[in-house]
Amino acid sequence: MKTVAIGIIGFGTVAKGVVEVLEKNAREIERRCGYRLQVKAVARRSWEGVDTQMLSFVCSDNPYSLIEDEDIEIILELAGGVDLAGQYIEAALLRGKHVVTANKALIATRGQALFDLARERGLELAYEAAVAGGIPIIKVLREGMSGNQVLQVAGIINGTSNFILTAMTEQGSDFAEVLTEAQALGYAEADPTFDIDGTDAAHKITILASIAFGIELQFEGVYKEGIDHINAEDLQYADELGFRIKHLGLAIRRNNGVEIRVHPTLIPKNALLSSVSGVMNAVQVNGNALGEGLYYGAGAGALPTASAVIADLIDVVRELNLSQEDRLAEFGFHQLHNKTALPVLPSDEFHSSYYLNLRVVDKVGVLAEVTKIFAKSEISIASIIQKNALAHENVVTLIILTNLVKESSMNAALEQLQTLEALRGQIKRIRVEFLG
Ligand code: HSE
Repeated sequence: MKTVAIGIIGFGTVAKGVVEVLEKNAREIERRCGYRLQVKAVARRSWEGVDTQMLSFVCSDNPYSLIEDEDIEIILELAGGVDLAGQYIEAALLRGKHVVTANKALIATRGQALFDLARERGLELAYEAAVAGGIPIIKVLREGMSGNQVLQVAGIINGTSNFILTAMTEQGSDFAEVLTEAQALGYAEADPTFDIDGTDAAHKITILASIAFGIELQFEGVYKEGIDHINAEDLQYADELGFRIKHLGLAIRRNNGVEIRVHPTLIPKNALLSSVSGVMNAVQVNGNALGEGLYYGAGAGALPTASAVIADLIDVVRELNLSQEDRLAEFGFHQLHNKTALPVLPSDEFHSSYYLNLRVVDKVGVLAEVTKIFAKSEISIASIIQKNALAHENVVTLIILTNLVKESSMNAALEQLQTLEALRGQIKRIRVEFLG
């Protein structure tokens, strides 16, 4: 049996998981792909504190020694980061190596040029582990859904945010306390700001949108909000109204383009995504032939992510002898839509329902003033609840759910609401999706 030599750049959690699974499942992997996969060398900045005698591969501190190694056919880029990782991948492709990466930030922001280079050189740049860890969602969208026009992708794709929102909902835990726990468990990014402010989910939905709709990667067009402004009160009111609050990545096909957005979202308690708890990820896909499908699993962690990296590795090995024309295009489309054919819509053009939380002085006529603004903006109110939380201060909280509305109309209504004399404090707005 022929051996394929592999070089790994980076030796963190995921790379260690890959080495472990390649050893543990060596026989099964050989049976699947017909080759023996051998990790020949691993490069990391420093091996200090690691007992390298115990390791079965060459331990290098220079990624380029792997890239230059004639024996190595496939490079796994598992170092993370953007600039250096991008340089390693580019150099590996220029040296004729196939590449497998788990690097969502790099693929979302610089992937287009790297895919072009891989295609020119007749090489693979595989990236299944970049989105939703162990869930093979790239394969689902790129291959399993290829008979469909994809209408919508909605996913819980940041485990840290889901872990925090779940703990706040179920145990009434404090935001900061749960974040520390997520970091200790190793789910959060090195800089957890990317989890909390929605950047990580925005990277992932950028990639999913390109595969769903056959459009170029357009991270800069993604609308992004994190979970830092969600508090116990919102979770409580959402619950009373029959909703959960989840941080979603959404890619929605409209007649005039696509909406790509990440934000906290009220979803009905009986929606499948509502029952996705803790650090788990799930992606709901709606296609015009399939209808609705839900894909669930671990979105991070050493072995689940290794599962996706190794699946890519096996795909690359199976296709080692294919010509470029026979290779699957990076997003599964032979021709991508250019930016004007299916543009990424600006947020003003989004359509959504809304949850609004506003505090107003409790006096005759205030509710009428509020509803008049909605009527003038042609926004239909689905329900309205008055909470007398601060009755002793003569202030009440109004919780309003709207029907579907264009975001520009909602913004105009919010501007007018801000001018109400009876208003106290900021108006909180959270989008509502029914996911049908
Ligand atoms: N920080 C990410 C998450 C890890 O919380 O989902 C997986 O990409």
